[in-house]
Amino acid sequence: MIIASNFKTNHTRASTKDFLETLKAVGTTCEVRVFPPATALDCFALPAHIKVGVQNFYPAQSGSFTGEIGAEQVEEFEIESVLIGHSERRHLLKESTELVRQKYAFARAKDWEIIYCIGEPKEVREAGFDAVRAYVEEQLVGIDVRYERLIVAYEPVWAIGTGLSASLEQIQETHQYIKTRLNAPLLYGGSVNVENIGAIVGLEECDGVLVGSASWKKEAFVRMLEAVKTAH
Ligand code: PGA
Repeated sequence: MIIASNFKTNHTRASTKDFLETLKAVGTTCEVRVFPPATALDCFALPAHIKVGVQNFYPAQSGSFTGEIGAEQVEEFEIESVLIGHSERRHLLKESTELVRQKYAFARAKDWEIIYCIGEPKEVREAGFDAVRAYVEEQLVGIDVRYERLIVAYEPVWAIGTGLSASLEQIQETHQYIKTRLNAPLLYGGSVNVENIGAIVGLEECDGVLVGSASWKKEAFVRMLEAVKTAH
């Protein structure tokens, strides 16, 4: 089971260090991923099951890309886990499909672990499951789904940061479809919290979760890891 925490634009260097120190002391069989803001990256001494990754990077070793971090900066911290295609980057920050594909190809060539995020906006969900399938399909174009370090996160845009998680039936139906397309571990993300995590990770096709807001308090994240242990 993979449990990932996306800090987004939250936490500082000091609070990230403290968060990770707390996690180190927790007994879990989960693979844990933490994505702090770039300013809080460091070479953390962590047990093998906990890895720190980056929320974003520019697909270049280094160069003139003001405000971005490239592979040189990522590698300085021995980081090899990256988020690509998160809906906030696609929609809020206007990252194009073309750039998402470039980042994917770059990370793949680097042999980094990729958590590739896909998921439909509200109007697509409302148009019915065929529309959801077509939307997801489009997000897989140009993506090597056979890459062995790929993890896919199904995150419906309307469920992210809204407190309204997709229903278990919606998650399962979409996961079942995605599993016909690829063999990578499959996560769910979108308003996962301490209360619903057990049922979500209990779904047949679900290999874990990507959690935003509900994971930012270390105590809550620890409780989620405990809830997963109980659910399995
Ligand atoms: P959320 O965010 O848990 O706050 O909905 C999930 C995500 O953005 O990955």
